[in-house]
Amino acid sequence: MFEIGGFEIHKARLDRPAQLRMVEELREVVRAAPLFAPVTPWGKPMSVRMTSAGRYGWVSDRGGYRYAERHPSGLSWPAIPDSVMAVWRDLVSRDRVPDCCLVNFYGAKARMGLHRDVDEADFTWPVLSISLGDTAVFRIGGLDRGDPTTSTALESGDVVVMGGAVRRAYHGVDRIRFGSSSLLGEGGRINLTLRVVD
Ligand code: SIN
Ligand code: FE2
Repeated sequence: MFEIGGFEIHKARLDRPAQLRMVEELREVVRAAPLFAPVTPWGKPMSVRMTSAGRYGWVSDRGGYRYAERHPSGLSWPAIPDSVMAVWRDLVSRDRVPDCCLVNFYGAKARMGLHRDVDEADFTWPVLSISLGDTAVFRIGGLDRGDPTTSTALESGDVVVMGGAVRRAYHGVDRIRFGSSSLLGEGGRINLTLRVVD
């Protein structure tokens, strides 16, 4: 483990078999709660497709950014897979489970602008992020939007913990190195973020 700007980076935390098992479990999640194409509160399409597992899902549409108890179709969110929960237990807590596992799928052209994760009512728990598939160029900033930033590559199996002083720090994804991993036969990247919501 090393730190960049307070972000804990656990390189290759998941080996290939563990990544494959997790992808299989995520295919079940997506069958139960299909990926959808969110728009920002200002009506701009986001480039990722997303879904969630857990008590809450994170959604964005013209009604704003928020946690919702149901998928946009009205379906309830599936449970967070065991393989994902195990990473949380090992790196964050055995006493508190996450309320939401946001699943973001990045195709060749997807990115995620610099932002903070601040829609939760409780910031005492970290956000834990798991990367699967193609490498992302991950941007790490500070607590203010104008703070200097650096980037680091997040590869398949890497896990990042954003907690404590950097729980509300800026971060984003500049781009994907499409085709850099063979994990997902069809290419692309999956990012999971686990959050305690309330
Ligand atoms: C996010 O900040 O929600 C996603 C981060 C990532 O894709 O690595
Ligand atoms: Fe985020």
